[in-house]
Amino acid sequence: MEKSLMENWAKKVMKEIGFKDSERISVADQGSDENLRNLIYSGIYKKKPSVLKIYDEPRRIREAASLDFFNKNNKSRKLIGPKIHRSKELSPTRGWYVMEKLPADGYFLSDLNAPNPLTSSGREEFLETYLEYKKNFPKKAFRPLLLAEKLPAEEFHITRIHRWFEMASEREIEIELKGGKPVLDAKVFFPLYLKAQSLIKKEFKGRKMLWSHGHFKPKEIFFSPKKNIYYLTDFAHTYFYPEGYELGFMIWSDWLLGANWKVDFKKWKKGIEDWEKDVLPVMRKLKMKSPERLLRASLAERTLGAILADVTASRKPIKEKIGRLKLLIALLKDLAG
Ligand SMILES: Nc1ncnc2c1ncn2[C@@H]1O[C@H](COP(=O)(O)OP(=O)(O)O)[C@@H](O)[C@H]1O
Ligand SMILES: [Mg+2]
Repeated sequence: MEKSLMENWAKKVMKEIGFKDSERISVADQGSDENLRNLIYSGIYKKKPSVLKIYDEPRRIREAASLDFFNKNNKSRKLIGPKIHRSKELSPTRGWYVMEKLPADGYFLSDLNAPNPLTSSGREEFLETYLEYKKNFPKKAFRPLLLAEKLPAEEFHITRIHRWFEMASEREIEIELKGGKPVLDAKVFFPLYLKAQSLIKKEFKGRKMLWSHGHFKPKEIFFSPKKNIYYLTDFAHTYFYPEGYELGFMIWSDWLLGANWKVDFKKWKKGIEDWEKDVLPVMRKLKMKSPERLLRASLAERTLGAILADVTASRKPIKEKIGRLKLLIALLKDLAG
């Protein structure tokens, strides 16, 4: 939705429900003011510090209902979702909700060592919360499944990869038509692109599709030392994903995208190896079959995503694109070459 439209909608909602002293704390856009995903305000609702999140997502996630479903099913005392005070769904993609404000003494795990990736003890803490989440997250969906969620695990991945390929392709030609140079070297990339897809097809074949939070990363996990409790936030990505996807995803968010890309490959790769060492025991605890092979395939999937969607299709500066691609292609070679 266009920014001023969403702002007006938010104002109307605030007036209607008596949400006072509002202050905007977050804007999520998709590259421009033309198309916001959400606006978040902190304020007072029924005398309590609260947060209003108003959203217009591209996918039919039903964010508020998804958080509510988790809260109702969750039995954990260590990991909870923010309480919902009030909500309204206008459609499966549009709506708003007022939730409790996260405690003032706390922080997101990504902030602990910001702007750097997690430290070794940060990873340990994060992975413990992941196990707690796996124990308590509902196993079933509360809504009818989307077509993509019904795909076999390997086809789910391949379909998404092809979509990112299209996005990368569009951006590259746009750059070329403006007289620039495309960043992805097809001769180097294609053999690896095909090999990585074979690996993904083979390794994800027969794996389960699991109802997942979909964004389990340090930036969405909030800890309050005073209450000694973790909050799982941002239910805008709740979806069926292949078993093993979330493990690659956390490494992708913390390291593939989050780490300094101005270092040489060997130094950069060490961060991924550190993650692997910590993630594998978690996969064993969750009784995943062939964890090493699954993690490799999951990382290959995330590396393709990073190469195609996060770097090539992005509007990042050219120097950064080239620097990141150098590392990501070297990683893809290691994983699938
Ligand atoms: N309940 C809350 N209390 C306080 N701050 C919040 C709350 N929910 C979201 N925020 C703030 O807004 C940011 C974005 O929220 P999030 O739900 O993750 O939205 P997005 O979909 O844009 O990632 C968070 O990182 C946090 O700073
Ligand atoms: Mg978020």
